[in-house]
Amino acid sequence: MKPTLITTGNARILYDASAMDAPETIQFDSEFWASADAVVRRPAGRGSAVVIRSPSGEAVLKRYFRGGLLAKFNRALYIFSGYENSRAFREFRLLERMQKMKLPVPQPLAALCERQAMVFSRMALMTQMLAATETLAEKLVLGAVSDDHWQAIGRVLSEFHNKGVYHADLNANNLLINTAGEVFLIDFDKCRFKTPGPRWQNNNIQRLKRSLMKLFPAELFPASGWSILLDSYKINISGKNIHE
Ligand SMILES: Nc1ncnc2c1ncn2[C@@H]1O[C@H](COP(=O)(O)OP(=O)(O)O)[C@@H](O)[C@H]1O
Ligand SMILES: [Mg+2]
Repeated sequence: MKPTLITTGNARILYDASAMDAPETIQFDSEFWASADAVVRRPAGRGSAVVIRSPSGEAVLKRYFRGGLLAKFNRALYIFSGYENSRAFREFRLLERMQKMKLPVPQPLAALCERQAMVFSRMALMTQMLAATETLAEKLVLGAVSDDHWQAIGRVLSEFHNKGVYHADLNANNLLINTAGEVFLIDFDKCRFKTPGPRWQNNNIQRLKRSLMKLFPAELFPASGWSILLDSYKINISGKNIHE
């Protein structure tokens, strides 16, 4: 990794100079890749992510879109709160840090924060595509989640928690599994490091369970899968804890 900062007009771009040439702001628009016929696919979900064929390999481009009141005015505009403090830069830095810690996350490629009309900003993030992966949600729908998968998910979640990573949006669309059965965590918007502790760790795990139960009926999300996940998580989590 060679994180490098460039300024062009009202925009700042943070990118990994060891993985790609300096990007231009236009490359953070999916239309740029669509017009070059370089959109590989558009993953299901909130809909802002596109997989692109970039010069540095397949990558995922994600724009940040907001909910709430300002969304009615413009979905892509956030209040500007400093470049380094932007959601995109923070997610890039977090990914960089987790990569260094050998946690299974995508390699960050580039983050854009573009200031608009002084008080607003528009942001996007590019990460290296994790090859041959499906989301846990996709696999659950296909009935393709094995006991080994559940076990691997539990172990990977304990690794993140042991290292103090709090994932603010732990759900079936943010867990990826590749064809070799390796598990990855993605989408670190609003995530942060915390001192490891049973309370937030437990809440984090329970949140995942609730989100799975809400989205998938028992035929697709069996109680046995969850108990394998939890056992594997408990075996691997450090310290005394109260996980149930
Ligand atoms: N690095 C990646 N490799 C493979 N697929 C990815 C990667 N990043 C995102 N995706 C796919 O794109 C979807 C949306 O990306 P995500 O970062 O979760 O953004 P959001 O949920 O905010 O739209 C994911 O659920 C996943 O299907
Ligand atoms: Mg997501």
